[in-house]
Amino acid sequence: GKSGYDHFMLKEIHEQPRALRQCLRGRVSELDGDVTVPELGDIELERVHLVAAGTSYHAAVYGAQLLCDAGISAQAHYAHEYAISPPPIENATVVGVSQSGETADTLAATREARRLGAETLALTNTVGSTMARECDKAFYIRSGPEIGVAATKTFAGQQTALNLLAEAATPGAGDRDLVSALRDLPGNVQEILDESTAESVAEAYIDADSYFFIGRGLNFPVSLEGALKMKEISYEHAEGFAAGELKHGPLALVTANTPVFATVTGDGEYARKTIGNVKEVEARDAPVVAVTDGRSNVGRYADHVLDVPQTHPRVAAILANVQLQLVSYYTAAMLGRSIDKPRNLAKSVTVE
Ligand code: M6R
Repeated sequence: GKSGYDHFMLKEIHEQPRALRQCLRGRVSELDGDVTVPELGDIELERVHLVAAGTSYHAAVYGAQLLCDAGISAQAHYAHEYAISPPPIENATVVGVSQSGETADTLAATREARRLGAETLALTNTVGSTMARECDKAFYIRSGPEIGVAATKTFAGQQTALNLLAEAATPGAGDRDLVSALRDLPGNVQEILDESTAESVAEAYIDADSYFFIGRGLNFPVSLEGALKMKEISYEHAEGFAAGELKHGPLALVTANTPVFATVTGDGEYARKTIGNVKEVEARDAPVVAVTDGRSNVGRYADHVLDVPQTHPRVAAILANVQLQLVSYYTAAMLGRSIDKPRNLAKSVTVE
């Protein structure tokens, strides 16, 4: 049942601390912080193609950045595109990212990769799923069952598992700060759930014409995901893009009635440049919601701030998404939408 929550989606958002603890359990050494995932064996990654659809594709975009940071050539691909026309695949490990492990598009991509002789890995939530059975290896995110059509805890689980994959693939090069941030992750998510003001943000913009989500680096896939969640359950138009794209077109749509959600974590180059974009939309009278760890001064330019605890930049992108999940949820709830079963959509898309 829904354990007292109005919807499975809200229940699953609140299950994230537990789901992430499960994902990490036994995989990060208490002693030296080394990451070991027995299912992966001594995996060596030279070149990685991550194939996925929907929310899982956003996790794949996030994961590709982590692997590239670890010195592994990695790209995220839409599975439905990849299946028809894969790029050169020599020495590639093809990672199917799929909550269900049954998505037809993603299965078509991993099957094509196998046919071409690539090593395949299923990164999935569903033990014994078709993808887990068909791929050479299966890496489970252990999020527990997800009933709501909108993927929530499984996206956080995929992000977390992709961090483990990047660490496991670069033995010896382990990032201790990351490992300790991963250990703190479930508690940090709990803090957001306990203190979020997302409901009042949703209320403030309930009459918006459209919702925009911007971010750079790891916050780019977070912005894509923020927009997908919003459109999927609220039926409102939303668009997410890399903040740098703003002035290459989307800025023409920005008005006083299009709130812009800017995810800005850290205080480096990405933050500085995204703050520049925030000023641009402000000059067009758009309301700004900053999702931030407070390391930069983006809050100064924002109408609302959704806080995330300060942590490792990779983990910050997991936390920021939780705030955006809540904004979508409360927007859809206030609009009276069918949150757990949005119109026209299925939990598992088993036809191409
Ligand atoms: O089971 P999968 O992760 O392969 O599903 C892929 C997409 O259909 C899925 O993520 C979809 O986009 C979600 N409903 C989004 O919330």
